[in-house]
Amino acid sequence: MKAQEIHSILLEALAAWRASNTPIRQLLSKNMALKKLYAKDRRRVRDLIFGYMRNQIWLEDLVKESLSARQNARLSRRKRDLLELRTLVTKPGFEEHQELLDGVPSVADYNPSQAAWPKWMRRHLSSKLGPESRVASSKFFEEGPAFFASNDPQHACNFMGGHVSPVDICTSALRAEKRLRKEVLEQVNKGHQTQNGRALDVWPMDLGSQIIVSALRVEQGHRVLDMCAGGGGKSRLIAHQSPRELVCLDINEHRLRACPKGKGIRHVVADALEFRDTGFDRILVDAPCTGSGTLRRQPDIHLRLREDSVPHYTALQSKLIQHAKSLLAPGGRLVYATCSVLSAENEHDSLPEGRLMTPDNDDSDGFYYSVIN
Ligand SMILES: C[S@@+](CC[C@H](N)C(=O)[O-])C[C@H]1O[C@@H](n2cnc3c(N)ncnc32)[C@H](O)[C@@H]1O
Repeated sequence: MKAQEIHSILLEALAAWRASNTPIRQLLSKNMALKKLYAKDRRRVRDLIFGYMRNQIWLEDLVKESLSARQNARLSRRKRDLLELRTLVTKPGFEEHQELLDGVPSVADYNPSQAAWPKWMRRHLSSKLGPESRVASSKFFEEGPAFFASNDPQHACNFMGGHVSPVDICTSALRAEKRLRKEVLEQVNKGHQTQNGRALDVWPMDLGSQIIVSALRVEQGHRVLDMCAGGGGKSRLIAHQSPRELVCLDINEHRLRACPKGKGIRHVVADALEFRDTGFDRILVDAPCTGSGTLRRQPDIHLRLREDSVPHYTALQSKLIQHAKSLLAPGGRLVYATCSVLSAENEHDSLPEGRLMTPDNDDSDGFYYSVIN
């Protein structure tokens, strides 16, 4: 494929993204020009676009600083995109993409200490976020490893052909160095059993999400409420811990469909603030949030978020925490969690100090949790 054709696919995709404000993953999954490429080229173009999104803030600053005011004023968006992409391939990890940008001049060199979050977010970033997570060299701005959860991770390794390894600090987790084909997972979940004779279950789930479920300390016989369960990832792991009852609650019926089904599991479509059942031994409030910690999976999330969406989330989160407390049995345990790195969403006055997990320190996406006993 000629460099010119690649340039035009890259630039059209970026222009379409700017015009629609649709998540880039969704946009690329429908991109016809991309679909026509060989799988290897398609992957490289996608990696380049995702890399561009993750790194866009410092790329823009660096290119701007390298040009005079006159050059900056004259540069079209299209040419600026190309210069920024060319600058991206000076960052370690993008070397193999250099040739895709043949003929484009380089105007600047990668500067790892450049700030990497949008200006408004820098004011809101959690004070717990160390300096390593605030700059362009942070692992937040790289594609992360893939993690899986399983009800028998040791045994699952035997069926996954050396692609994955167990994780010492989290008993449910498996880590994959390379992307796994969908078929590998389908094969593993087909007809294999755990060492205890149950159906083996393996599914994609970030390490931070699994650590949050382990902080809930579910035991056999517990009544558990997953108060914002839609999407089902955490419920699925909780269900494997044999609670007596698991209530999966979500306001969104469609999202609730992904939750596990089975004996003792109840699905409730409702506004959590209206839910009145009490006496739960364990409650998980996996709160609706900006998702600002999920950059590795959603490469453009920080570019699409707006500052004025934060107060909406913090107000709802405060109400959910207060309400959840009122549903807890005496001696029960409540875990509040977000996938955000913004202090206003995590450090609520009504919560004890919690733990912020980051790609730089924990190999996880950006997650926060706080435990109320
Ligand atoms: C972070 S997601 C949950 C992800 C899920 N726990 C998982 O692990 O896959 C937050 C969820 O909160 C739900 N939600 C938002 N407002 C709600 C409310 N007032 N009552 C109940 N659920 C709500 C959303 O529909 C969304 O599914």
